[in-house]
Order: sequence, then C-alpha cells, then structure tokens
Amino acid sequence: MPELPVPFPAEDELYSNAWAKDIFKGKVVFCTGGAGTICSGQVRALVSLGANAAILGRREANTKSVAAEIEKVRPGSKVLGFGCDVRDINSLTAAVEATVKELGKIDFLICGAAGNFLSTVEGLSSNAFKTVMDIDLLGSFNTVKACLPELRKTKGKIIFVSAAFHFTGAALQSHVAAAKAGIDALAHSLAIELGPAGITSNIITPGAIAKTEGMERLTATSMVPEDLKKNPAKMTPLGRWGAVSEIADATIFLFSEAGRYVNGLTLVVDGGSWRNSNGV
Ligand code: HXC
Repeated sequence: MPELPVPFPAEDELYSNAWAKDIFKGKVVFCTGGAGTICSGQVRALVSLGANAAILGRREANTKSVAAEIEKVRPGSKVLGFGCDVRDINSLTAAVEATVKELGKIDFLICGAAGNFLSTVEGLSSNAFKTVMDIDLLGSFNTVKACLPELRKTKGKIIFVSAAFHFTGAALQSHVAAAKAGIDALAHSLAIELGPAGITSNIITPGAIAKTEGMERLTATSMVPEDLKKNPAKMTPLGRWGAVSEIADATIFLFSEAGRYVNGLTLVVDGGSWRNSNGV
C-alpha cells in the first residue's frame, strides 16, 4: 500500500489540533440530521470545544441516545435530542422553543437532514423525487424559517450540508443533485439577504466520507461499479476518502472567529475529487 499524501486521521479524532480549547464556550448549536454520522461528528466537535447543542432526527429514541452519547465528550455539557421531521415546520418550531427554553438561545444552525438512495430516473416515482426534495430542500428552508427569529437575536451563523453531485451532474442521483442545487441557491440568497443582520450563510460540501451511513448505503448497491468500490480513492487526488473529523474541522472554522468574514461560501471538503471527475 503506497503512503498516502495526507494520512487518514486517527479513529478517535474529533477534529485536528488546530483549534484552541473552549472557543465555543457559551454557544448553542441547533442541528438537523444530528443523529447521522457526519452531523453528529460536527456537533460532537463543537460540544467538545465548549458549545451546548440540540440535535434533531426522525427516529426520536435514537436521536436522544446519540445526544446522550455526545454529552459525554465534555463533562457539564448539555445536548438535547428531539424527534423531528424537517418536512413539518411545526415540529421544528416546537424544537426551537424547547431549545431556547433549555439552552437560552441559538447561535449556530446546521441544516444537515438529508435523504438519499441510488436510482435511475425510470426507477424514481414522482413521489420518490418529491420525497428527497422535501427532506433536503424544503426541510432546509423550514429549519431556517423556524430558527430565524433566534438567529437574528444572536447574529447567528448558518451552515448547510450539501453535496457536489450538481457541480457536474451525476447518474443515479438526479433527485439528490436537484435538491442540493436548490440548497446551494437558498444558501447563497440568504447570505445576501441576511448578511445585513450579521447572519452568515455558508455551505459545506463533503465528498465521499468513510464510515458514514450514506456511503455505506450508496456503495452497498450493485449500481456502483466494482472497481470504484475496490479503489474508492481512484478519483481523489489526496488518495483516500475523507473522515468525519475533517468535516468537523471545516465546521469549526466557519463557526469560529476565524470565519467571521466568510459569507456565501461553498467549502468543498473532498480531497479535490469533484475537480478530478474525468479520473485522469
Ligand atoms: C427508488 C425509492 C427508493 C429507492 C424509496 N423510494 N427508496 N425509489 N429507489 N431506493 C421511494 C418510495 O418507493 C416512495 O415512492 C418514496 O421514495 C418515499 O419513500 P418512503 O420510504 O415512503 O419515504 P420516507 O420514509 O420519508 O423515507 C425517505 C427516504 C429514506 C429518503 C426514501 O431513504 C430515508 O429515510 N433516508 C434517510 C436517511 C438517509 O438517506 N441518509 C443518507 C443521507 S447521506 P412511492 O412512489 O412508492 O410512494 C446523503 C449524502 C450522501 O444524503 C453523499 C454520498 C457521497
């Protein structure tokens, strides 16, 4: 096995050693999709660096148990878990109210809830397409809408978790590419509209991240070519899939003081792979 240009982070790494302890002391993060691998990694890092948090997921019991597990990264932290479907604005509004009641405010918002599966266009029913649009795009809108009164009070920061499928187009992902393109457009528009209120709106675009439910589900299907499964790093200039902690690092940067003048950015964290889509 040749040496990787940038080694894979250690198994237990939450984030790199670039950040000072307690930089998020007193901050509160609200995160949809927060029980998923990537978003729980983002929240775990923020909590470790001083924040309290509320995470939302459709499976209430699982979300509460992930919240309890995240709390353990920093003694004294508070992490709330709510059952919530982002397609339902009322369940979001209720979670916002409960978060403010318990934690006092919302400083950081991560819109991370997403749905995904591989399908040909013929295999997609109208409802299947609509389902992904509703979870990803309408769900992101609903989340911002529910949190906005709180974000105005704190001059909060928003991160949307997107994908790169629509940069080039992607077979078997027309539904997700369309939804994520919409999310990017929403994020860009909010950067302009909410900037004067001191609210920033940015996008993190993870590439293929190892050990995530999304990647496991996508690669489990026979629709993904065998050579790509055997050598997932084939198209990635840095030679490997990413780590959850590397998405956490990007999140920390955007929410930290170091990112205060960044607004309307798409921060692609993919080892350069989407730029190498011809694979040579
Ligand atoms: C075609 C499918 C399908 C499939 C579901 N549908 N799976 N069509 N191929 N594999 C259709 C159904 O038949 C139905 O249409 C419609 O989609 C809605 O399905 P439901 O199961 O009723 O919807 P729901 O319970 O809301 O579930 C949503 C879901 C599901 C998106 C379908 O997969 C889900 O809950 N996913 C959440 C978890 C997830 O996907 N995590 C990964 C995110 S990672 P009909 O016409 O029959 O009614 C990610 C980034 C990956 O997004 C990036 C990788 C690089």
